[in-house]
Amino acid sequence: MMNNGLFITLEGGEGAGKSTQMAYVQQLIEAAGKTLQVTREPGGTDLSEQIRGLLLDHRQTAMDSDTELLLMFAARAQHLAQLIRPALAKGEWVLCDRFTDATYAYQGGGRGIDLSRIAQLEEWVQGSLRPDMTLLLDLPVDEGMARAGQRGELDRFEREQQAFFERVRQTYRDRAEAEPERFRIIDASKDIAQVQQQIAAVLKPCLNGENGKARGLS
Ligand code: TMP
Repeated sequence: MMNNGLFITLEGGEGAGKSTQMAYVQQLIEAAGKTLQVTREPGGTDLSEQIRGLLLDHRQTAMDSDTELLLMFAARAQHLAQLIRPALAKGEWVLCDRFTDATYAYQGGGRGIDLSRIAQLEEWVQGSLRPDMTLLLDLPVDEGMARAGQRGELDRFEREQQAFFERVRQTYRDRAEAEPERFRIIDASKDIAQVQQQIAAVLKPCLNGENGKARGLS
């Protein structure tokens, strides 16, 4: 079996503890002896990181939401071509901090772009490639904002209002509900140890090779 690496993504709103839990997921996968690429979106390659710089720059106050959406997918196209697809083709695992579910949540839910337009770009840029498993760190928006509020200078997204993040959260939850076979909802309002317990429990079957899902070769 060549193509046995899984493509795992981690999603969540502001202050959900994503950075801490990325490191934990990485540790679990590497401890199981898998070769793993750890990456993020927008970003992951030199060009995509430059696009990220534009997207997060709070001085870009005039950015149109279509421009934002297309830049997300431009960064993603490069990331897929240069890093994600080659790694998966070699049978490696890929762990990505955010992916296209974030586009549905932020540009769709948050900005109000029609989800069908996002689906068109997803089809164009990704073809049939989707994550094998998506961990959604879910917690109430006010709790997340209180945690995130302790950080330094806010980027272009972090400056949004609570209502924006409520729509982001709802869109993530709707997607998780619509695709229960791919999503695992993690209750991120719990303390770090309890969040890690939940993550370890959902990853265990894949790490033991028991998840029963073979990646399509397309
Ligand atoms: P973060 O993952 O470091 O929080 O920063 C990335 C920001 O970019 C975050 O606010 C969510 C946003 N984002 C989108 O709006 N759409 C996307 O498709 C992705 C990947 C991220």
